[in-house]
Amino acid sequence: MMNEAIHILLVDDEDGFREAIGKRLTKRGLSVSQAPDGMTGLEMLEKTPVDVVILDVKMPGLSGIDTLREIKRRHAHIQIILLTGNAAITDGIAGIKAGAFDYLTKPVEIDHLLNKIQQAAGIIRMEQEKQKEAEYRDRLEKKMIDTDRLAALGTMSTGVAHEINNPLAIISEATGVIKQMTLLPEMDSFSRKTAMLTAIEKIENSIKRARKITLQLLGHVKKQESQIGKLNLKDLLQETLSLLQKELEDKNIKIHWELETDATTIESDTYQIRQVLINLLSNAIHAVGQKGIITLSCRHDNNGILMGVKDDGIGISPKNIGKIFDPFFTTKSFDEGTGLGLFVAHKIIQTLGGEIRVESTPGKGSCFYVRLPKFFHNNHELPK
Ligand SMILES: Nc1ncnc2c1ncn2[C@@H]1O[C@H](COP(=O)(O)OP(=O)(O)O)[C@@H](O)[C@H]1O
Ligand SMILES: [Mg+2]
Repeated sequence: MMNEAIHILLVDDEDGFREAIGKRLTKRGLSVSQAPDGMTGLEMLEKTPVDVVILDVKMPGLSGIDTLREIKRRHAHIQIILLTGNAAITDGIAGIKAGAFDYLTKPVEIDHLLNKIQQAAGIIRMEQEKQKEAEYRDRLEKKMIDTDRLAALGTMSTGVAHEINNPLAIISEATGVIKQMTLLPEMDSFSRKTAMLTAIEKIENSIKRARKITLQLLGHVKKQESQIGKLNLKDLLQETLSLLQKELEDKNIKIHWELETDATTIESDTYQIRQVLINLLSNAIHAVGQKGIITLSCRHDNNGILMGVKDDGIGISPKNIGKIFDPFFTTKSFDEGTGLGLFVAHKIIQTLGGEIRVESTPGKGSCFYVRLPKFFHNNHELPK
C-alpha cells in the first residue's frame, strides 16, 4: 500500500498537537482527517472510509479506550494506533487488549509513527487478500456441478419428454386436419381465413420447438445406433464440423488442431459422443464473432483422454457459470436456444464414465473439457 492510498483519522483533543502531526503526515503523502474528540471521530468514520485511526487515550467526553471499542465494534477492519501519555503503559496494554494494533507514548516521533502506520496498513492489505481468496474459493465451489441434482433432473426430464411426445403427436395431427380444411371451397368465403392460417402457423412453430426439446432430452438414439466400439476422436470431430459447415463458413471461423500423438483413439459410443460434440461446437460457433477461432485438442490424461473445445468468443459471466449445465438454462433468444445442449452433453459424458467441465473468461472465451476413459467399462447404464 503506497502512502497516498492510506487514509488516516487523527483523534486528539489537543488542537496544536493534532494539527502539527496532521501536517507532517500529510507532507509524507498520507490522506489525513482530524477529529477533536471520540464522538466526532466516530461520526466521521460513518462518512469517510479510513484505514488507520490514531487515537489519543486521554480525552474529555468519550474516553480513548471506549472510542477504540466502539470503532472496533462498528468497523472491524480499521487498525488503531493509540497515543498514551508518558508513563501510562497500563493504558497502552488495556488498549491492545481491546483490539488496538499498537500504542506509542507522547511525545511522538514522527518517523516512528509513520512506521507503525505502514505496519498497520500491511495488516489491512493482508486481510483484504485473505478475503479475496475466500471469495474466490466461494465462487469456485459454486461453479462445481451438482452432479446428483443433475442426474435426478435428467431422469425426471426424460420421463416428462416421453410423456409429452404422445399429446404432441396428437396436436400435430389435429393441426394438419384443420389446415386441410382451410383448403375446402366453402372456406373461400370465410373472411377471417388469413387470421386462421396465421394461428395455425403459430401452432406449427410451437410444435416444432416442443419437438426439438423432447428430441434433445430423449437423445433420439435408435437402439442399433448406440454402440460401444473403437472410435477416432479426430475423425468424429471432423465429421461434426462438416455437419456444421454452413455456420462455420458464415462466420469465417478458423479451426486449430492440437492433437497429441495417439490421443485420439478410444473405446466409447460414437453416436453419443457425436451428440456431445455437436452441442459443444454449436455453442462455440454461437459464442464467437466473425473470424473467430475454435481450438480442438486431445491429449493423454491419466488413464483417459482429455478433449478440449475452446473458443475465443464472448465467454460466460461468473453469475451464469454455475447454471449452464442446468436444463433449460439459456441466455439465447427463444429461436436460438433451448438450454438443453450442455445438460444433455453432461448426462451423456457421465454415462460414458467421463467428466465435463468448463473454464471461461468473459470477453476472452471459453474452453469445455471432456475427459473420457480410454476404454469403456460397462458399469453404467446407457441412456434410453
Ligand atoms: N462456448 C460458450 N461460450 C459462451 N457461452 C456459452 C458457451 N457454451 C454455453 N454457453 C452458455 O451456456 C448456456 C447453455 O448452453 P446450452 O445448454 O448449450 O443451451 P443453449 O445453447 O440452447 O442456450 C448458453 O445459453 C450460453 O449462455
Ligand atoms: Mg447449445
